[in-house]
Amino acid sequence: MKILKTIEELQNIRKSISGTVGFVPTMGALHDGHISLIKQARNENDIVVVSIFVNPTQFLPGEDLDAYPRKEEADKKICEMCKVDYLFMPEISTMYSKEEILIKAPNKSYILEGKARPGHFDGVLQVVLKLFGIVQPTNAYFGKKDAQQLSLIQQMVKNLFLPINIIACNIVRESDGLALSSRNVYLNETQRKEALLISKSLYSAASLVAKNEKDVKIIKDKIYEVMNTLDVEYVAIVDREFNEIQKVELNNIIILIVARFGNTRLLDNIWL
Ligand code: PAJ
Repeated sequence: MKILKTIEELQNIRKSISGTVGFVPTMGALHDGHISLIKQARNENDIVVVSIFVNPTQFLPGEDLDAYPRKEEADKKICEMCKVDYLFMPEISTMYSKEEILIKAPNKSYILEGKARPGHFDGVLQVVLKLFGIVQPTNAYFGKKDAQQLSLIQQMVKNLFLPINIIACNIVRESDGLALSSRNVYLNETQRKEALLISKSLYSAASLVAKNEKDVKIIKDKIYEVMNTLDVEYVAIVDREFNEIQKVELNNIIILIVARFGNTRLLDNIWL
């Protein structure tokens, strides 16, 4: 595995690659969720590129940019173990200049996560577009865990006619159901236990849907009932384009939850 710090190095290498390139963009502190994306990329491509870049433009003032977990040495080992070909770890100053062309995410990026974090998705799209320009991947891998991010990246690729396949990857969970997240390290023991109610409520919702319940209100009530001891920020039931829906349409719904544990926001969702 080669570790690359500059854009020029990666661009030069890219010119010499004729096979398929699988790309996994991350912010590091790699866990089994990231690893599953990397393994899938490894299985499906000739060359695998992983990036680790804690992107400042997607953090709002007062968010956890400085505190965001950084585990450079462990991350390098994980990438080596997963047989990554190139690990791209650029500095902020290489990725951004003083004056930038800004990407404006569409209106639907100002609902749900975008409502809680206005401007967050502009930053995500900006950095992902830059990374796509540098890596020029054949296939790029994103987790369904960040469902709204995934949907906006799919739309960006479509709107800008980028010749890249976006591969949506399943959510990886702890054995007790908690969705893996780099931010889980912020939870204390009690919060870690309470957080289980999130996936539990999603499973209760899924079993209602399996019993043919179509009424979104009834499903939402059930979710709130299971999570009644938690500080729930939102529960949303949307179609794959992120429009809120009233009636369940199978194979086209995503149930999304955000709950707060102190300063930590945990996201989870289920695709039905
Ligand atoms: P990060 O939070 O590091 O996540 C990198 C990728 O891993 C994302 O596509 C995310 O959806 C996926 N992922 C995280 N937890 C997962 C889980 N439990 N199961 C499956 N996939 C999971 O998302 C970002 O970084 C950034 O916004 C980025 C796209 C890199 C742009 O800066």
